[in-house]
Amino acid sequence: MDKIVIEGGRPLKGAVQISGAKNAALPTIAACLLTGGPHHLRGIPRLRDIRTIRSIMEKLGVRFEDRGDVLEVNTTHLTDDEAPYELVKTMRASILLLGPLLARLGRARISLPGGCAIGARPVNLHLKALAAMGADIHMEHGYINAHARKLRGADIFFDIRTVTGTENIMMAAVTAEGTTILRNTANEPEIKDLAEMLGAMGADIEGAGTDTVVIHGVDHLEPCEHTIIPDRIEAGTFMIAAAITRGNILVEGCRPEHLTALTEKLRQAGAVITKEKATIRVQGPDAIESVDIKTMPFPGFATDLQAQFMALMTVANGWSMFRETVFENRFIHVSELRRLGADIEINGNQALVKGRERLLSAPVMATDLRASASLILAGLVAEGGATEVHRIYHLDRGYEAFEEKFRGLGANIRREKGPPV
Ligand code: UD1
Repeated sequence: MDKIVIEGGRPLKGAVQISGAKNAALPTIAACLLTGGPHHLRGIPRLRDIRTIRSIMEKLGVRFEDRGDVLEVNTTHLTDDEAPYELVKTMRASILLLGPLLARLGRARISLPGGCAIGARPVNLHLKALAAMGADIHMEHGYINAHARKLRGADIFFDIRTVTGTENIMMAAVTAEGTTILRNTANEPEIKDLAEMLGAMGADIEGAGTDTVVIHGVDHLEPCEHTIIPDRIEAGTFMIAAAITRGNILVEGCRPEHLTALTEKLRQAGAVITKEKATIRVQGPDAIESVDIKTMPFPGFATDLQAQFMALMTVANGWSMFRETVFENRFIHVSELRRLGADIEINGNQALVKGRERLLSAPVMATDLRASASLILAGLVAEGGATEVHRIYHLDRGYEAFEEKFRGLGANIRREKGPPV
């Protein structure tokens, strides 16, 4: 297993280019299943989660070809309808294959995603919505077996705003008979991005990116070309890196309007932020002020940036309170941050961080994707030698060329190769 070794203490300076969004790439790749032919997607990042969805879809008969910045996804011939346990267990977002497979083939067999490090993360709302659209769903040997000769439009209320749930049902509904109304939908920018791609395929969707999405079923879809949106979580991670190292970074190729909640919190923490159309400059403060955080669905503060912002608050002046309202168990980075000297108390879904003057280097272990990023940010300011972050394979699921990008900003960071996972 690889590890990342960081010698902290350097303020980061320079420009960093943001990659395409992992969470936009996964649903758009899955959406190619909806109709046969060569689809062309631009901006797909090179990540382990992308390799995973490719492996599953290759097993279904899909052919992929990398052509520079364009990924060709050829879905002409589907030869299978099963997403196996061995792959689904490494990536819960595999559930995104359920909606499009069911719509195209009238059947799908997807391994039921288990719990994960950040909580139980059920898929009951995906299944309930598909059942309302006429799918016959039953569980067998750990697999979701779904059948529907023809899905039909339905009026669906999501009890909880779910991002992949909204995406999955949107995909299932584009060729359903009649109109589907999805209520209390998630508003994340990745949903609007998917709707744009589906629109380019010929789908008729209104309201994506709001609380209610209306989908009028169409008979025919065409293969399409689409460029995915930049990764707001990657951009946010670099913005926090500028603040924690008291550096000055230009984050390029991002969408500032997707980062409003974080921008506001960083300003309150003392950073100076300048936004332009597709760039954000962050100048870190001399003294970091403490700020409270409550994670919320978009446009609120993203749960996927909570761990990274907590790293920042461990070296702020004073106390900050974190309330995690999206996932029930998303503080597993806390025990590792404590190993670097952070003072954090957890009480249920709240964490109270008492800022300290400094963190001290130590070996730590990454526990999930965003926790890995949080530990690296903390390592960038930890004093007294090298911080080693172990189990770094989590990081490779969702950050493209992370250490290279940090090295480009002047960080002393390197990967040490270990045996494969
Ligand atoms: C997506 C993102 C993930 C992000 C999360 C919240 C992708 C591939 N992943 O995950 O990075 O952290 O949104 O912004 O886009 N829930 C249920 N039943 C369901 C579905 C969800 O109870 O059927 C609950 C979840 O347990 C969680 C909440 O709803 O408490 C929100 O989860 P959801 O938006 O579904 O997260 P994901 O789509 O899995």
